[in-house]
Amino acid sequence: MSMKLYASLTLTVWLFMATFSRAQYVIDTNGEPVDNDDEYYIRPAITDNGGRFTLINRNGSCPLYVGLENTDTPLGYPVKFTHFALNVQDEDIRVNSDLRIEFVEVSTTCVQSTEWRVGENDTRSGRRLIITGLDDNFGSIGNYFRIVETQSVGIYNIEWCPMEICSDCGFVCSTGGILREDGRIFFALDGTPLPVVFQKKDD
Ligand SMILES: *[C@@H]1O[C@H](CO)[C@@H](O)[C@H](O)[C@H]1NC(C)=O
Ligand SMILES: *[C@@H]1O[C@H](CO)[C@@H](O)[C@H](O)[C@H]1NC(C)=O
Repeated sequence: MSMKLYASLTLTVWLFMATFSRAQYVIDTNGEPVDNDDEYYIRPAITDNGGRFTLINRNGSCPLYVGLENTDTPLGYPVKFTHFALNVQDEDIRVNSDLRIEFVEVSTTCVQSTEWRVGENDTRSGRRLIITGLDDNFGSIGNYFRIVETQSVGIYNIEWCPMEICSDCGFVCSTGGILREDGRIFFALDGTPLPVVFQKKDD
């Protein structure tokens, strides 16, 4: 192999790796990697879609639903991310990897966990709303989400598709978006995806 060809191959591989590794980790609104020790507010990338993510009481009963504040105010709850066990050595949160999302610093009278969970297909909207609570089924698959890239750096979608837990389960994967109902904004699958950003909570 000629030196020139070798050099250009090396460059190609290096460019590929550089692109790939930069793309691998989720970054917050400060351009820092999102990690599993800190707390983050999730917000729509475009504020017309509502404010920070929060918990909403949908119909006077538990469990609470995952939704968004109506306006961009300092309300809402931060979340923490937890990797699927296989990635547990890694502090930084990767794109396209299964993780759990839990609201923290919440006080509620509901006994359920504040972890995000995919709900049943809702008869009113024909969409799967995101609720809170632990999924006791096989692999806790209802509790695992993933962060996926959009075409803009630092802007992501949140998807339900726990492929690391079961790659051949034939999940009906879908990306989270908003569902407006009676003046409130819920987070639900099976609609237009909502681009979001992660804002680190100040200590
Ligand atoms: C809310 O009310 C609907 C009926 O209107 C019911 O099917 C659903 O289970 C209720 N949700 C909760 C969380 O209790
Ligand atoms: C949910 O139900 C609606 C009909 O009410 C259906 O069109 C849709 O495909 C269902 N979604 C899933 C994920 O099963």
